[in-house]
Amino acid sequence: MKIGIVGLGYVGLPLAVAFAEAGNHVVGLDLDPAKVEALDRGESYVEDVPAAVLGPLAERLRPTGDYAELADCEAIVVCVPTPLSESREPDLTHLLDSAASLSEVLRAGQLVVLESTTYPGTTREQLKPILERSGFSAGEDFHLAFSPERIDPGRTDFTIRTMPKLVGGLTAACAERARELYAGICDQVIVLSTPEAAELAKLLENIFRSVNIALVNELAQLCDRLEIDVWEVVEAAASKPFGFMRFDPGPGMGGHCLPVDPFYLAFKARQHDFYPEFIELAGKVNQAQPAFCVDRIERALNRAGKPIKGSRILVLGASYKGGIGDTRESPALKIIARLRDLGGEVSYHDPHVPALPDLALESVPLADALSTCDLAAIVTAHPELDYEQIVSKAPLVLDFRGVTRGINANNLERL
Ligand SMILES: NC(=O)c1ccc[n+]([C@@H]2O[C@H](COP(=O)([O-])OP(=O)(O)OC[C@H]3O[C@@H](n4cnc5c(N)ncnc54)[C@H](O)[C@@H]3O)[C@@H](O)[C@H]2O)c1
Repeated sequence: MKIGIVGLGYVGLPLAVAFAEAGNHVVGLDLDPAKVEALDRGESYVEDVPAAVLGPLAERLRPTGDYAELADCEAIVVCVPTPLSESREPDLTHLLDSAASLSEVLRAGQLVVLESTTYPGTTREQLKPILERSGFSAGEDFHLAFSPERIDPGRTDFTIRTMPKLVGGLTAACAERARELYAGICDQVIVLSTPEAAELAKLLENIFRSVNIALVNELAQLCDRLEIDVWEVVEAAASKPFGFMRFDPGPGMGGHCLPVDPFYLAFKARQHDFYPEFIELAGKVNQAQPAFCVDRIERALNRAGKPIKGSRILVLGASYKGGIGDTRESPALKIIARLRDLGGEVSYHDPHVPALPDLALESVPLADALSTCDLAAIVTAHPELDYEQIVSKAPLVLDFRGVTRGINANNLERL
């Protein structure tokens, strides 16, 4: 098959690679010329796609910035960003722009699948009418479906092949075309009755995580007051073989999905005079967590007779989760900014994030920084950091990720 992938980011590039590895010819389209040029040179900018896998695929994976090259693809999968606007409402600009460009090259018989996370109704109400500007009718002249991306960046135990794939088509024939497409790269494809069900299923997955993380973050704040070790409590509850799913507390939620996606559903719900309380409350609790971490840092320094102002605070980890370099919505950035506002001299170390240009900071070498700081705060649980060494070298350590469980030291505190 010849398959087009629109948007070669964290989602689109691994998908393009998966289709190419399965023997298909893939046209990868991105409007960012830097990405197209990097791929042309055989370089990867996504950590889950090592450059070594691109070389052997050079014949079958062609990067481009030109929508006209999609005209002879049998299937086109759209993976463009769906962020929030400044007023925290869905920003579908990328998706609508992409649909408008597609409508100019769309051919009869093609299958278009949307993978971007979005609110229920987007495929039918937003994408379909724009694609139909081509003069073709969705469900009759071309097929249209929604299939959410469910990857977890950095995770290796589930791959595109082993993660069950959800698809929802505009018609039964649309769903069947989408099922066939993904059956070539996924072991299991689950067909839902509508695109809306598939759109909402993805949001439910992310909202489920957001609500449970909020619950355990709130519990961490309560445990702080009660002087109970929240990690011990979570560990103990998780020993129950049924009826409990473990979520760990932390410095707050980050990434492109969890802090963003719930707002997509809340927006849609409001259009129907419905106010989803759990979603809003979870967002509120999780967004307050970085401020709680700063409060803990302030108290730890205070006990050592130091104010935040003028203290040298080393933040360990800037990305939103361990093992990857993605800093989007990372709580570390909020913690750094707040500490600086309070007069702290903040530096950071992150093996995956060489620089934070917006904060005019560069990752500092670990050994020197540990010996010269007043406090080191573990904000991201990067697996390659040696936490025993960190606790032994830094004068004071605050662990917001629970990675120092098992280490007992007078200079160590945990969330
Ligand atoms: N990153 C994740 O872990 C993840 C997981 C599941 C779902 N998603 C969803 O997948 C979608 C894509 O996310 P991502 O993380 O890959 O985003 P990303 O920003 O990494 O990549 C999107 C790419 O689309 C390109 N693009 C923007 N507008 C375009 C247009 N009109 N035409 C062609 N290309 C265009 C951008 O240049 C960018 O390279 C989002 O809806 C996101 O919510 C992301």
